[in-house]
Amino acid sequence: MNHHAPVLLAECLEALAIKPGGTYADATFGRGGHSLEILKRLGDEGQLLAIDRDATAIEYGQQYFKEFGQLRLVKAEFAQLGGVIEEFAPSGRADGVLLDLGVSSPQLDNAERGFSFRKDGPLDMRMDTTQGRSAAQWLATAELEEIRTVIKTFGEERFAHRIATAIVKLRQERPLTRTHELAKCVETVVPRKKEQRIHAATKTFQGVRIFINDELGQLRTVLDDMLSCLSVGGRLAVISFHSLEDRIVKRFMRDQSRSDIMYSGMSHVPDEAKAKLKLVGKQIRATDEEIEVNPRSRSAVLRVAERLA
Ligand SMILES: C[S@@+](CC[C@H](N)C(=O)[O-])C[C@H]1O[C@@H](n2cnc3c(N)ncnc32)[C@H](O)[C@@H]1O
Repeated sequence: MNHHAPVLLAECLEALAIKPGGTYADATFGRGGHSLEILKRLGDEGQLLAIDRDATAIEYGQQYFKEFGQLRLVKAEFAQLGGVIEEFAPSGRADGVLLDLGVSSPQLDNAERGFSFRKDGPLDMRMDTTQGRSAAQWLATAELEEIRTVIKTFGEERFAHRIATAIVKLRQERPLTRTHELAKCVETVVPRKKEQRIHAATKTFQGVRIFINDELGQLRTVLDDMLSCLSVGGRLAVISFHSLEDRIVKRFMRDQSRSDIMYSGMSHVPDEAKAKLKLVGKQIRATDEEIEVNPRSRSAVLRVAERLA
């Protein structure tokens, strides 16, 4: 229940090009799979700032990472990472930042968190259970059109209209409070082919989860913030698990690695219009060997960029 196999681990470590005395940030501590290997590569003067918005991740780190004096764990969300780096990094900047997006295995495996349609539990889906509305609270009052848009846009589900209509109809009879109720509700209206690998409710759950946790908004914010938080030569490594996230990361890195086109052809380009990042290699995917032992890595895409002067 408490295990999470870190994805693209060797590739992330290589991407971060860790210096023993450097300051690094792991924005998605989870169960510390990546953090552990970063810490092993740091000397006494090095530092790892690790955050997670989920209190259970921080409690896990406090319990099992006691021996690492170079680790500072903070319960925080992406929007607060810049402040954490400014406050705790000796230079106010990080030499490398890792984002391993999405949910952790313990979040999915614990039915009480409400992320999984396979296990019955309260329909919560919040990574930070101290803030915001649970999925059940939102679904109880949201307009049909909003539910449809969330499932269509964030779940990329073509039967979003049918599903939203079924949800609204069901909630008129009784409140929708359990993950299995939502999963069954989706199953009744989504046509299934026998050979289909994914569960009928996969996309709906993905869409609701992304919305409830504002995952894409959080990602955009942290990417922008990292431009001023990375030291020159510092690396940003981001692992995405679906096309919506990867598109944001890809566009951000591409746009920031070009000078403002307004100045193209001009001999003087002001600093603020110059490229801020340099792309490091191409997208990296898990090897067949990794996918074999950790099927979750199948959809992972790692992108890396380096801060320019
Ligand atoms: C895929 S897991 C990371 C697993 C970790 N790399 C490991 O090896 O154990 C993603 C983690 O990031 C956290 N997370 C996701 N979005 C976040 C956000 N916006 N702010 C802070 N933490 C976030 C989740 O709570 C989850 O614990």
